[in-house]
Amino acid sequence: MVSYKELGLVNTREMFAKAIKGGYAIPAFNFNNMEQLQAIVKACAETKSPVILQVSKGARNYANQTLLRYMAQGAVEYAKELGWEKPQICLHLDHGDSFELCKSCVDFGFSSVMIDASSLPYEENIALTKKVVDYAHQYDVTVEAELGVLAGVEDEVSSAVSHYTKPEEVVDFATRTGCDSLAISIGTSHGAYKFTPEQCTRDPKTGKLVPPPLAFDVLDAIMEQLPGFPIVLHGSSSVPQEYVDIINANGGKLPDAVGIPEEQLRLASKSAVCKINIDSDSRLAFTAAVRKVFAEKPGEFDPRKYCGPARDLMEELYKHKITDVLGSDGKLAQC
Ligand code: 13P
Repeated sequence: MVSYKELGLVNTREMFAKAIKGGYAIPAFNFNNMEQLQAIVKACAETKSPVILQVSKGARNYANQTLLRYMAQGAVEYAKELGWEKPQICLHLDHGDSFELCKSCVDFGFSSVMIDASSLPYEENIALTKKVVDYAHQYDVTVEAELGVLAGVEDEVSSAVSHYTKPEEVVDFATRTGCDSLAISIGTSHGAYKFTPEQCTRDPKTGKLVPPPLAFDVLDAIMEQLPGFPIVLHGSSSVPQEYVDIINANGGKLPDAVGIPEEQLRLASKSAVCKINIDSDSRLAFTAAVRKVFAEKPGEFDPRKYCGPARDLMEELYKHKITDVLGSDGKLAQC
């Protein structure tokens, strides 16, 4: 058993309380390789933003759970080296799908876990979530749960259809499970194809898809039921069109990829939404940078020469999200 406290990590409790009060959201960035982690830590150290490092089940399988744990521990030390005196870094399991997986992460030094039992019937979601909460809270590890279903594909989590969170269920769910935060469904979706062209309109000038707005009325109704309770938005990549264009111009094929407009996320960040999950955008930045190098310098074979630019572009992306979308920059002193 390793406690996250020994690793210099923090759970989400303080972070969320301050974020709700301050009207901003904590970035939750997924990582599964060194370049992503370097870019995240550098961006957060420079903007003075607290951060949640997310590891999905797929990332654990890809990168090895032991290595990822030590990488997160290394991130704390790297952050200090960058002048971040007391790093506020949380290591979070994204989309845990079983008690055993959540327990293993708690035992292994994670400071926060998500149990995603949202695809189960309501009572089963409550029972499994409560079981995880009861275990995790013994070690002061915070737990995110989910009500409602997001569409889209994210590693091993996928659903063809979505249904919004029912505001009338949230009080009962939060009270009976004891969860620390609640991921809700209000129209966000995993992956780079969040909406079908049929769900969107088309901008006549650019020909690009314009997605339907998020259901802010559902968010308002949830916040009315659970005042001050930490709300989480998954599936919040914006799918920057400049990255999609670079990818497509350099041999890629991402037709009609579309995400959540940043102004809607900016608005959500000012509410009780205090954690916003972003994964696909960094994948797009990485791919755009690599494809560009390969197209411009076909003789290049040193991975540092294409992973380096990918790391730089991801760092730029993370800084932009922190500063211009979530508003978590400069929030370290308050935590
Ligand atoms: P995106 O696919 O929109 O980046 O969402 C990531 C996510 O929600 C991880 O849980």
